[in-house]
Amino acid sequence: MIISKSIAEAAQIIKNGGLVAFPTETVYGLGANALDPDAVAKIFAVKERPSFDPLIVHIADIKDLKRLVKSDDLRVYALAERFWPGPLTIVLPKKDTVPDIVTSGLPTVGVRMPDNDIALELIRMSGCPISAPSANKFGRISPTKAEHVKKQLPEVECILDGGPAAVGIESTVITLDNNGFIILREGFITAADLKEILPESPSKVAEHEPASPGLLKSHYSPLKPIFIEGRSEFKGDISKAGYLSFDGSVPAGFKKVDFLSKSSDLREAAINLFGVLHRMEDDAQVEFIVSQPVPESGIGRAIMDRLTKAAYQYSDKEQGHL
Ligand code: TXA
Ligand code: MG
Repeated sequence: MIISKSIAEAAQIIKNGGLVAFPTETVYGLGANALDPDAVAKIFAVKERPSFDPLIVHIADIKDLKRLVKSDDLRVYALAERFWPGPLTIVLPKKDTVPDIVTSGLPTVGVRMPDNDIALELIRMSGCPISAPSANKFGRISPTKAEHVKKQLPEVECILDGGPAAVGIESTVITLDNNGFIILREGFITAADLKEILPESPSKVAEHEPASPGLLKSHYSPLKPIFIEGRSEFKGDISKAGYLSFDGSVPAGFKKVDFLSKSSDLREAAINLFGVLHRMEDDAQVEFIVSQPVPESGIGRAIMDRLTKAAYQYSDKEQGHL
């Protein structure tokens, strides 16, 4: 059992300006009082996160939104009504109450209400919004279990253990303009889901930095080379490689096979993605990883976004296999 502390004790740590790792439905977060710049600075230090990458602020009640953002855009409330608590982050013009360190100096702040009882209770008991990035070292694999947090951030003394994350990949990050929504980071909530609420909106995925620092090309990387089958050439002895299967097939010759899914199920693959990457990273017998791609539809887009970024530094960039 990783955990150590009750939610009440964790809330006291947040109130005192400390850090708490906590479960959300997407991935585990590394939280601090979003209104305390010194506390937020500790997040950047522990994660070794560059100061240009802004944090998401988590709230437990829709009323808290007004403390943080200037917007009274009715579309926000329609989205919140449908998707909160849940894996949708909305980037909005910020109020001065939100310290610049949270938003990396941007005039906007990303806000979401997580769909996890421990997270919601922690926010309520702390009495403040909680800024939290994923609880991993910058650029590395996101944590979907408390033990993943412990592995990468052993210095964090308080990790609330909520078991495996129900969704498994990070929230969809969007912003709104006069035309509609723009997806800054793909996630569990898809453009089609958003269109149910904003039907007039042309769906748009931002493609370039610096629209969102989350669009960095390399991210979510295991400490070993990873290749996407059919996308990038790899050299190496597959008897020393791990294979991630999506359709349940088990090719011969690999040292180890693990499953994103056994039946081409995208939801299952999202839930399993970071966990199987952690297992492959931890397996001393596996020198590199080969993953089956998944179809880029629905949440498959978010899964391929994560896999492609994990593989980016090993990919055949010149040929456009990004
Ligand atoms: O599911 C999630 O979103 C998880 C859990 C813990 O809530 N959090 C998470 O945080 O994934 P992080 O820091 O790993 O990713 C936040 C993303 C980054 O890509 C960041 O660049 C983007 O959100 N972001 C945050 N504030 C933004 C802003 N004001 N403008 C544009 N992008 C922003
Ligand atoms: Mg992250």
